[in-house]
Amino acid sequence: MKSGTAVFSSLGAAISIALATCGAEALTHDRTGSGLVSLAVAKDGGNRSSPLLYGVMFEEMDHSGDGGIHGQLLQNNGFQGSSLGMTSYAPVGDAQISRDTSKPVSTAIKSSLSVSVPEDATSYVGFANTGYNGVPVMNTTYNTSFWMMGDYSGAINIQLLGSHSGIVYADHNLTVQSTAAKFTQFSTTFDSKPSPDGDNEWHLTFDGSKVAGSSLSFGYIQLFPPTYHDRENGLRKDLATVLAEVNPTVLRFPGGNNIEGLQVDSRWKWNTTIGPLIDRPGRESDWFYPNSDALGLDEYLWWCEDMKMTPLLAVWAGKSYGDIISGSDLEPYVDDIMNELEYLLGSSTTQYGKLRAQNGRRDPWKIDYVEIGNEDDLTGGCATYPDRFNQIYKAIHDKYPHITLVASNGDYRCLPSPLPEGVIIDLHLYRQPDDFVALFNQFDNQPRNQSVMVGEYGCRNTSDAKGTYRSYIQGSCSEAVYMMGMERNSDIVQMAAYAPMLEHFGLIAWSPTLYGFDSSPGSMTPSTSYYVQKMFASNKGDTILPVNSSSDFGPLYWVASKTNSTYYVKLANYGADEQNVTVSIPDTNSGRLEMLAGSQLQGNRPHDISIQTVITKVQNDSGNYTVNMAPWAVAALAVS
Ligand SMILES: *[C@@H]1O[C@H](CO)[C@@H](O)[C@H](O)[C@H]1NC(C)=O
Ligand SMILES: *[C@@H]1O[C@H](CO)[C@@H](O)[C@H](O)[C@H]1NC(C)=O
Ligand SMILES: *[C@@H]1O[C@H](CO)[C@@H](O)[C@H](O)[C@H]1NC(C)=O
Ligand SMILES: *[C@@H]1O[C@H](CO)[C@@H](O)[C@H](O)[C@H]1NC(C)=O
Ligand SMILES: *[C@@H]1O[C@H](CO)[C@@H](O)[C@H](O)[C@H]1NC(C)=O
Ligand SMILES: *[C@@H]1O[C@H](CO)[C@@H](O)[C@H](O)[C@H]1NC(C)=O
Ligand SMILES: *[C@@H]1O[C@H](CO)[C@@H](O)[C@H](O)[C@H]1NC(C)=O
Ligand SMILES: *[C@@H]1O[C@H](CO)[C@@H](O)[C@H](O)[C@H]1NC(C)=O
Ligand SMILES: *[C@@H]1O[C@H](CO)[C@@H](O)[C@H](O)[C@H]1NC(C)=O
Ligand SMILES: *[C@@H]1O[C@H](CO)[C@@H](O)[C@H](O)[C@H]1NC(C)=O
Ligand SMILES: *[C@@H]1O[C@H](CO)[C@@H](O)[C@H](O)[C@H]1NC(C)=O
Ligand SMILES: *[C@@H]1O[C@H](CO)[C@@H](O)[C@H](O)[C@H]1NC(C)=O
Repeated sequence: MKSGTAVFSSLGAAISIALATCGAEALTHDRTGSGLVSLAVAKDGGNRSSPLLYGVMFEEMDHSGDGGIHGQLLQNNGFQGSSLGMTSYAPVGDAQISRDTSKPVSTAIKSSLSVSVPEDATSYVGFANTGYNGVPVMNTTYNTSFWMMGDYSGAINIQLLGSHSGIVYADHNLTVQSTAAKFTQFSTTFDSKPSPDGDNEWHLTFDGSKVAGSSLSFGYIQLFPPTYHDRENGLRKDLATVLAEVNPTVLRFPGGNNIEGLQVDSRWKWNTTIGPLIDRPGRESDWFYPNSDALGLDEYLWWCEDMKMTPLLAVWAGKSYGDIISGSDLEPYVDDIMNELEYLLGSSTTQYGKLRAQNGRRDPWKIDYVEIGNEDDLTGGCATYPDRFNQIYKAIHDKYPHITLVASNGDYRCLPSPLPEGVIIDLHLYRQPDDFVALFNQFDNQPRNQSVMVGEYGCRNTSDAKGTYRSYIQGSCSEAVYMMGMERNSDIVQMAAYAPMLEHFGLIAWSPTLYGFDSSPGSMTPSTSYYVQKMFASNKGDTILPVNSSSDFGPLYWVASKTNSTYYVKLANYGADEQNVTVSIPDTNSGRLEMLAGSQLQGNRPHDISIQTVITKVQNDSGNYTVNMAPWAVAALAVS
């Protein structure tokens, strides 16, 4: 995605495909329907549907990773990047704290926190970290760790407490023996009571009387709640579980803009995101905050494996927002991509495969899809992309012919001609509701030999990047209509990824997102679009079925599919009038109806989930079901 006006040039590019290849006219449906539509679903006779269709796109933005789905809760924990200074730190007791570049924790973690203690100190002193707008303090078990240097043996006290209330929710001692010779890592686990709000911080204190008139150094502090699948350096279990419930099939990562870099040298570099955390320098990202890269290349792949998602790995293809590298200058970067793929796919006897094994993964990862760059139709990428694409395509395809390669845009002026066989083109669409609905037939008349993915899409009622926007039911309904267009054509639309995925409320650069949260309890808020994604991904068969209908598409839209003897019929009412629909489905008698409905502009707000999918049982011995579709409602029948 792009900020500001670039958004719409991106969308313009996507549209030009539809116009160039199929002459699709905008659908201008009358939104006041007859109110009674009957649908008859055929037993068979349809096209195969891509098993990968509904996925998600992740890039570090809106604190979706650091301060988001990645489990580590303390902000600025390694003083990475250049923009944060002492953000989130404060002294505790009669101590002075400062960032100390003369005592780096490691080559990559270039500084530490110096805590100096006055000569007359008698009590515990230390420092606090206030996390990402607070620390979520839950009734659960935490793991905390820190590096420490300086002569000290005795107790270190760790607390989770209210920043303003002073209420202590967790209070735990560990005994350390630290030396002045080198940094040593210490870790411990402890239980906490729940805080009623997010206004909390983490404290580390030590016996000041033992260090009076001197100082101790601390670095790379970490605090983890329970993680998804209990992985070390894993994802937050609570946030990851909500995503897993969507049943996404694909994860597109690590960007998005954030792979590109504001300059060539600040691009996402795979080999600085692997191995021990203190060997990861982090970087100043494309979305205005430093990335810790604790959520690195291997962590993305564990995430995919744990959620049974197919990885769609994007590689850096020569374009940053500063310079663009092409021709023979690109060769070292192509080599770097090949090193990355050897790290992921090589046996543990290869140079880079061995490194992967050392980092905890002996068997190669499974990588079947690689995207070459991001949005190369934009920000000056177009002219050089065909050559850059061919260079990278050839290197990857020669060595790994099983990998399907994805071109980063769908504007044929910015693509090689001809495109190598089997390449998927990636379209990105952020649209207003009516515009999404007008693109319902975008793929109906595309050539069937050109596979497509929609690697980013989401309803956005504005071209202004600034501000905070929330999904609302009309917009989510328009996404459903567009998704039906994709699903009906999922012989060529291979994958689709709603974006962006997650926001930490109050720490955002781009919205709306699939879901959001903050540091306080009960803050997790799935958007209306979340429920559409979940409904669609959870109710799709492997074969699309023809449907006879008593009226044309609009305001009611539908798509039917089946796997074995289970039939799925999705419905969306993009209109202000109720629609009563009868659906006849052969050889079925019962199942469930999922329904998402609300008033046109209604959406979920932080701490206020007013719209959720409602599931009811349906039954009819002759396979005829009546579905009452409220205005703007989205529904799915699953029967057998
Ligand atoms: C839809 O059906 C309900 C009864 O199930 C009825 O009250 C309503 O009038 C019908 N609406 C339309 C538009 O036919
Ligand atoms: C759909 O309509 C066609 C043409 O009238 C008919 O042959 C076919 O049996 C119908 N299919 C269903 C499922 O009703
Ligand atoms: C199958 O794809 C063809 C285009 O190749 C299309 O005309 C037809 O409508 C599709 N069938 C279904 C059931 O979507
Ligand atoms: C904390 O969780 C435990 C079980 O994990 C439960 O028994 C206890 O009631 C909870 N306490 C609070 C204060 O929620
Ligand atoms: C706690 O964190 C440390 C440092 O990351 C790690 O070595 C240790 O295994 C963790 N302990 C538990 C119980 O997860
Ligand atoms: C931690 O150690 C200090 C000093 O010995 C002691 O005062 C305090 O009670 C201990 N806290 C816990 C939770 O054990
Ligand atoms: C990463 O790869 C680049 C290019 O191959 C190399 O110059 C750099 O030293 C590597 N960095 C690390 C940390 O291995
Ligand atoms: C698809 O088919 C058309 C017409 O036969 C042809 O012009 C085009 O090059 C083909 N595209 C691909 C990607 O094979
Ligand atoms: C959507 O945008 C239009 C202007 O393009 C505005 O009139 C309308 O109020 C917006 N709706 C919402 C729900 O934000
Ligand atoms: C569909 O049937 C096949 C063959 O019996 C079976 O292997 C497969 O697991 C079934 N699929 C689902 C989703 O139940
Ligand atoms: C469903 O109802 C229609 C009339 O609405 C009828 O023609 C059809 O036979 C019924 N379908 C089944 C499977 O009984
Ligand atoms: C099943 O559908 C048929 C045809 O629409 C209808 O006549 C019948 O009342 C329905 N039965 C039940 C139990 O809803």
